[in-house]
Amino acid sequence: MDVKERMSQLADRLLEAQRAYYVDGRPVMSDLEYDGLFDELVRLEQENPQYRSPSSPTLRVGSDLTADFPEVAHTIPVLSLDKAYSADEVVSWMEKTMRNTSSELSFVEEEKIDGISIVLYYEDGLFVRALTRGNGYVGNDVSDNIKTIRAVPLRLTKDVSIAVRGEVYLPKRDFEILKASDPEVANPRNMAAGAVRRQKSIEAAAIPLTVFVYEGFWTDESQTPRDHLSILRALRDLGFRINPHLAVFSSSRERSQELLSSAGLEAAALSFSDLGAYLEEAARRRKDLEYEIDGMVTKVNELGVRQSLGYTEHHPRWAIAYKFESPQAVTKVLGVTVQVGRTGRITPVAELEAVALGGSTVRRATLHNQEYIDELELAVGDTVSVVKRGDVIPAVEEVLEKNAEGNTTYRIPPVCPSCGSTLVQRGAHLFCPDRDCPDQVKGRLSFFTARDQMDMDSIGPKAIEKLYDMGLVRDIPDLYTCDYDRLLGQKGYGEKMIQSFRKAVEDSRTRPFTTVLASLGLPEVGQKGAEILVKGGFDSMDKLLAASDASDIGAFTKIPQIGQQTAVAIISALQDPDMRRRIGQLRACGLQFTQQEQENSLEQIFAGQVWAVTGSFEHFNPRSLALKELEKRGARTVSSITGKTTHLLLGTGGGSKRKTAEELGVRIVDEKEFMELLGRGGKEGRAASGGQLSFDF
Ligand code: IVH
Repeated sequence: MDVKERMSQLADRLLEAQRAYYVDGRPVMSDLEYDGLFDELVRLEQENPQYRSPSSPTLRVGSDLTADFPEVAHTIPVLSLDKAYSADEVVSWMEKTMRNTSSELSFVEEEKIDGISIVLYYEDGLFVRALTRGNGYVGNDVSDNIKTIRAVPLRLTKDVSIAVRGEVYLPKRDFEILKASDPEVANPRNMAAGAVRRQKSIEAAAIPLTVFVYEGFWTDESQTPRDHLSILRALRDLGFRINPHLAVFSSSRERSQELLSSAGLEAAALSFSDLGAYLEEAARRRKDLEYEIDGMVTKVNELGVRQSLGYTEHHPRWAIAYKFESPQAVTKVLGVTVQVGRTGRITPVAELEAVALGGSTVRRATLHNQEYIDELELAVGDTVSVVKRGDVIPAVEEVLEKNAEGNTTYRIPPVCPSCGSTLVQRGAHLFCPDRDCPDQVKGRLSFFTARDQMDMDSIGPKAIEKLYDMGLVRDIPDLYTCDYDRLLGQKGYGEKMIQSFRKAVEDSRTRPFTTVLASLGLPEVGQKGAEILVKGGFDSMDKLLAASDASDIGAFTKIPQIGQQTAVAIISALQDPDMRRRIGQLRACGLQFTQQEQENSLEQIFAGQVWAVTGSFEHFNPRSLALKELEKRGARTVSSITGKTTHLLLGTGGGSKRKTAEELGVRIVDEKEFMELLGRGGKEGRAASGGQLSFDF
């Protein structure tokens, strides 16, 4: 396909998707897919402006026009937002915007409500109409339906003429209730879209929609306040509902507070350096909100600066949306490799032409299983879109263009790439049936030593590969008995490294039973599962073995979180002779096979506090031991410092976190003081932290 054809294909697909999304309220593709195609078209149009169609979707903001509602022209341009996909990108955007501006700036941070965009028009204080966004210039008049929303004032507190932008949405809880009668509707946004477009407003009224407004445009410009905060305050005073989850960022928290105070608003007052942490925290808090948000919006506060920054055809240059979903990238499949996991499961992996995706370079993406490959009809040489969801490994999402070489859909070879055994099908996946298969053994060993399990940090997958290849380790117990000195002289394995292996082995003997249990790799028994079993009465390996010897399914299923299937899987895994031998040997190596009590009787001196830990410690090695001491005494522990963090436990070499902690006013505790807190029962441990922030969620 040539560029011109591709551009017209992209334009058609985007227009079709826009109609499905805006008009029918039933999307035909994910936001990610849409954004990916949109970005591709923007890029191609930039490179080949001669092929750009006058009706290109990039020239418009998506059309929700429908014949059912009268079309009315907007008196303000109803633009969309530019997007970023990581907190870092937003921070860079903020820095760039500041560099391009001579005056001192401040920014307002708002939630990006995942609802229906609406513009409310008032004349002399009276509601005249509500228009959908439409194509940005003309919208549909949905006034009758919008008037049924109680949060939309019909008469303002002042006789002003104003256009107000906002988002109509349906709270999550109401959606859950209404879904029962309309199970077809996928999410609150789609239900709200349907309600806004009902032909009978009595039907719209039955859906408890509400609205947050976030921009105001006064007809008489002289009435327009000087900054965004004052606009929000004015909108609130006029009788509109504004979202209280706001934050202001400026050169200092004091200045931000002044800006808020002079606008008469209460919100988080932060400094520029807090922005990254704030956005990350917002992404984590998203699920706790009563409504759906799909990102955060950062806006320049000063209206004068907004005006000088101006607009593109699509979005203002003074704002950016941080979309929580990860972006897509387009690249080529160079080949497919097959991985064998610790359970023998086979995963095909696409080897890709390197491509930038969400801030990192991606060279591999999972293809899950043969079924997935068949659905995609993926062949080597195809051009595909890849997507990264959350923190997980990228996946191939779609084939965009078939290869020119005539390669057909990829088939996983029928034998294990590691041991040559014939693969067997179980459910959707292929498995290597040989439990001694080298890749499976290495996988089990790496799982056991991983940070989330026994935390034998220094013995990572690379060291395991070496130990296995030298024939020093064949099963987990060998980690405790093998002669690590035999590694001496191998490239990269010096005395220091060997010592760290020994230390890791030694430290692992103190891990509690729940950790040991979770590290064995029993089906369904991760850290949480192990805790459930222990709390449910299986506080020793002997009790577990006794129940599995008796095939006592009931002993497991009487624990509420454990179902029949899980019980059977655990029992048969514990009956397996290899597992029994492994458990026996590990017991002989001195691992914990009984849960030690006493933990719960500790005084909860750190209750309600949020601790981050950094650097290395004399008494807590590995560091996770310090985390455990904190958690046992009621603290919540986090890996990065945010405004919610109350304490930083600082060991040696934790420089960068110290700086952040100081900036955020987080109380810093050194190892000596920490030991005292643990020993003394900790009156000081309860002391409030100095400049602790509240993000006001
Ligand atoms: S500002 C020119 N603020 O997101 C200003 N938009 O993807 C543009 N949205 O069309 C809008 N919450 O429908 C803004 N706090 C917020 C928002 C928000 C949701 C929607 C809005 C916009 C779309 C852009």
